[in-house]
Amino acid sequence: MTELAEVTERDLPPSPPQALARVAPDADTTAGPHDVDMATIVELCKRRGLIFQSSEIYGGLRGAWDFGPLGAALKDNVKAAWKRAMVQLRDDVVALDAAILMHPRVWEASGHVEGFTDPLVECTSCNRRYRADQMESNKAGDPYCPECGGKEFTEPRAFNLMFRTFVGPTEDTSSQVWMRPETAQAMFVDFAHVQLTSRQKVPFGIAQVGKSFRNEITPKNFIFRVREFEQMEMEFFVRPGADEAWHDYWIAERWDWYIGLGMRPENLRIRPHGTAELSHYAKATVDVEYRFPFAWSELEGIANRTDFDLRRHAQFSGKDLSYYEQERDERYVPYVIEPAAGVERSALAFLVDSYREETATAASGKEERRTVLRLHHALAPIKVAVLPLSRNDKLVPTAREVNDLLKPRLVTQYDDAGSIGKRYRRQDEVGTPFCVTVDFQTVEEDRAVTVRDRDSMSQDRVAIEQLPRYLADRLDLFT
Ligand code: GAP
Repeated sequence: MTELAEVTERDLPPSPPQALARVAPDADTTAGPHDVDMATIVELCKRRGLIFQSSEIYGGLRGAWDFGPLGAALKDNVKAAWKRAMVQLRDDVVALDAAILMHPRVWEASGHVEGFTDPLVECTSCNRRYRADQMESNKAGDPYCPECGGKEFTEPRAFNLMFRTFVGPTEDTSSQVWMRPETAQAMFVDFAHVQLTSRQKVPFGIAQVGKSFRNEITPKNFIFRVREFEQMEMEFFVRPGADEAWHDYWIAERWDWYIGLGMRPENLRIRPHGTAELSHYAKATVDVEYRFPFAWSELEGIANRTDFDLRRHAQFSGKDLSYYEQERDERYVPYVIEPAAGVERSALAFLVDSYREETATAASGKEERRTVLRLHHALAPIKVAVLPLSRNDKLVPTAREVNDLLKPRLVTQYDDAGSIGKRYRRQDEVGTPFCVTVDFQTVEEDRAVTVRDRDSMSQDRVAIEQLPRYLADRLDLFT
């Protein structure tokens, strides 16, 4: 290909990126003291039906988790916030929802068949298998088997993390396909079609949210590392030479997304990959790391994938995946910047980050201990709880009326079980921003309700007719 004209302003991102908390590739990963430990989060999630073991009645399936009503809502909210920021609010990113099963050659071109492996070792005493690079070590620094204490292991062998299955009734190599281990490849394979039909010009991106599967050797830390998960990935195609500026731009954008959703900046950091850690396709990668209770760990990877993927797919498919730029009468293969986040990891980080155990003064003046998820309103599974003071026949019709009034606008929960204090605690625990209480004064005197704010615990008396407006003014739902 002939040399390209120089990169100019129109190829570059709009504003210079801000300075972020960057650490060295080999930075210490020790988390230090935390507000909450993992056992507490796991217990809360199970007790409130947010997240629990898959197939639990059969003893569970390792590395697979089910999201109950509130967990599913939390996940939906994370995905909606991502799609809003990455697609809806931008003119330069379009969405894709590609099939999970793809032509098997995709994974040969991408390098996954050959190289998507982890080093697997087996304890020679109890045959338990481990990832060689994530072994537990004793005080002397020697790896040991946490199951039986054994210190002898087989030589590491490359274990491919892709799940395989078959299309159609025959189970032979000609019908073998892979469960996608990342959503990214569809954006490369569909690049030319999407670019043409959406009439986007470079620089532009294709974004996708969807399931990915990895046969992780050691799934661990609750929903942090699992075998079936969802990714939120965006491939941003840029002119070669403009890639480094766009890489910096997307690192800053993704940082802002987490902070905008209430994540505490002191629990986030940017860690560039060292040379040995870089994937085969990447010129540079940073991880956005979160201070999980177990360690600083990857929340999201942001990679400069160069033109590797488009070139490989062009080579393997025989189709032209270059881009023609009319203004300069030039043809080139775009470089790609990829912010790749996990839905489960994000949800876990938001849960951990918002968790508080507090001593608070209730409206009665009494000091009370409470657990509260100070989730951003946009992420909270329930936005408003409607609570009749009791199940008294006088209160129930009005409480139902209030719930029916709010339901078309907001996700509500009607709860009349237990004391009002207990019900407040229940809603605090799952992060519901507002509780609306219907009492005798409501039905006998003023047709007004008490609205309690989750964070300040302050209470306002609001006329039922004014309630939708009152809540709309206070709920930060990005609408
Ligand atoms: N397309 C690039 C890619 O897939 P990755 O760093 O392997 O990069 C991106 O994955 C994100 O997907 C990770 O930062 C993480 O949030 C999520 N992810 C990857 N493997 C996961 C697993 N086994 N369980 C849960 N989330 C995972």
